[in-house]
Amino acid sequence: MADTKKLFIKTYGCQMNVYDSERMAETLGAQGYVQTDTADDADMILLNTCHIREKAAEKIYSELGKFRGLKTAKPGLKIGVAGCVAQAEGAEIIRRQPMVDLVVGPQSYHKLPQMEARVQSGKRALDTEFPEEDKFDHLASRPKAKRGPTAFLTVQEGCDKFCAFCVVPYTRGAEVSRPAERVMAEAADLVARGVREITLLGQNVNAYHGHAGGLAGLIWQLSEIDQLERIRFTTSHPNDMDDALIEAHGTCDKLMPYLHLPVQSGSDRILKAMNRKHTRESYFALVDRIRSARPDLLLSGDFIVGFPGETDQDFQDTLDLVRRVGYGQAYSFKYSARPGTPAAERAEVPPEVASARLQELQALLTEQQRAAQADMVGREVKVLFEKKGRREGQLIGKSEYLHAVHAVAPDDMIGQVITVQILKDMTNSLKGQVLSAPARPRA
Ligand code: 5AD
Ligand code: SF4
Repeated sequence: MADTKKLFIKTYGCQMNVYDSERMAETLGAQGYVQTDTADDADMILLNTCHIREKAAEKIYSELGKFRGLKTAKPGLKIGVAGCVAQAEGAEIIRRQPMVDLVVGPQSYHKLPQMEARVQSGKRALDTEFPEEDKFDHLASRPKAKRGPTAFLTVQEGCDKFCAFCVVPYTRGAEVSRPAERVMAEAADLVARGVREITLLGQNVNAYHGHAGGLAGLIWQLSEIDQLERIRFTTSHPNDMDDALIEAHGTCDKLMPYLHLPVQSGSDRILKAMNRKHTRESYFALVDRIRSARPDLLLSGDFIVGFPGETDQDFQDTLDLVRRVGYGQAYSFKYSARPGTPAAERAEVPPEVASARLQELQALLTEQQRAAQADMVGREVKVLFEKKGRREGQLIGKSEYLHAVHAVAPDDMIGQVITVQILKDMTNSLKGQVLSAPARPRA
């Protein structure tokens, strides 16, 4: 191509941003951009930002400051800010950092080609609208290149839950689901290109309503794609775990026994103050039902400590909930006030108290995570091998429970689901031994 330009994208935050960055790269690919993994030789730098916690905007401003030298050396360099900080800050970004050429909110990525043309003509481009149409429909279709065995696929965006601490309903807008036909078409395309495991993404993915049967209906339809071996989804709100989805965990072989089900706190008082609209007892009852459907399911969660008004007793309730539920994996955060959210108006817990609580909770969660992983030793698991390992002759992949597993295996097992016996817990991964021949002949 005559004028190939180089695009450097830096992605912050959640898996939805990872997916969006891929799609933006593909869209700009159609404009003649190829991706580079260093900012130094880029013609365009895009920061795909996250606004969920802490001084996200400040971090982006300081990151932008680092590009000043590059821009001076190469005036044609274009700099863009995408994602949730772009949505939240809008024109303020250009005011504070005039070298920024482009600001694009998460719902406007399909306008990138026009915006890129505009910045090439020396103007600035800003779009943080919430349009009615499905942005993904207007993004360039994925190129037909071969893919690795796993992929993300965004099926739902936005959130109507309005938890008192969370910016998502403001930065990503109201809940929108992509129609099942479009998701199916994208999934079929991914599978044709080598993908064997798809993780369905959404801020509130189990509220998906693009299929008459909800998320469970979509999962069942996806499970009919012959070469798609595994389906996962994230992130879920407890109140949207409907009967069909719980049942699918027991009956759909392709749905993996792993569920990210954030509860945030174990105290009813705090859950109420957070506007979570569920109680600890209703969460326990839900976990029981899910585990009755799929006893070996590994649960994951998110927790916030130091939410305004959290007393020591409230925190003890959280520790108690964690002990009672038992998590295979979890993320825990210190509350950080997000401007514009209801909780931001409330008096905060002293930072040293919040830090001490976070440490205590993390110690407990780490202990549970280690125990869940150690418990795999001696068991047979199914591993989807994804790539070569660090050692010669080794492959690495993930078990159905999302543990990283490595084993000596031939390269042509990449992209296949193989039975592996777990020999040893290596802390960051599990070491295994291949037991089965390939589960199915290669196409
Ligand atoms: N402070 C701390 N943690 C937060 N999260 C969301 N908003 C905040 C906040 N203001 C956490 C929640 C959520 C995860 C993605 O980030 O635990 O589930
Ligand atoms: Fe934020 Fe999740 Fe609550 Fe929605 S359900 S407001 S995304 S924490």
